Amino acid sequence: MKRINLLGISGSLRTESTNTIILRAVESLLPENTSFQIFQGLDEIPHFIPGVEDPHGVVKFKTALRQADGIMICTPEYAFGVPGTLKNALDWTVATGEFNEKPVSAISASPLHTGGDKALASLLLTLTALGTVRNENSALSIPDSKHKVEIGSLTDKLTISLLQKQLDNLLDLVGRH
Ligand SMILES: Cc1cc2nc3c(=O)[nH]c(=O)nc-3n(C[C@H](O)[C@H](O)[C@H](O)COP(=O)(O)O)c2cc1C
Repeated sequence: MKRINLLGISGSLRTESTNTIILRAVESLLPENTSFQIFQGLDEIPHFIPGVEDPHGVVKFKTALRQADGIMICTPEYAFGVPGTLKNALDWTVATGEFNEKPVSAISASPLHTGGDKALASLLLTLTALGTVRNENSALSIPDSKHKVEIGSLTDKLTISLLQKQLDNLLDLVGRH
């Protein structure tokens, strides 16, 4: 059976980020022959300038993307949008196509009841522009995130089951591709 490599990308650089904690919960939901690594280094990616040679941090990001069979992004919403750090990283890949035809699951998590839905909608538009593979089950917004995380772990059972569905759907898309 072929080994499947999944990559997680958190849109938050905070040490105690709820979005990163949600991604970490995926590690305990994985089936056999599947690995899941959370990308470290979004903060090493400089501002995007079209036409310049990829700086080291961008090479590292693109290598991780190319090695992944599927990608799960979990992001907060800042000022009704995608955090600049994450959008900047995605912009570096527009011309080189690392996300093109790549199965992606898109998740937003927010302490508000809206679940970061505006950031999620914006992220989905960008992921469409990048040519990612998704279906109607490839997106999830998680409201009231602070109440679903305790001492660094995702504890809310409903959210864990929704995360499992995201993972299963992502793996299904990877399998079909
Ligand atoms: C500058 C800033 C802007 C924010 N804007 C929004 C917003 O528009 N919508 C929202 O739901 N939460 C907003 N928040 C709250 C974040 O959702 C909250 O800080 C969240 O926990 C961040 O995710 P993290 O725990 O993964 O770092 C904002 C937070 C900051 C610091």
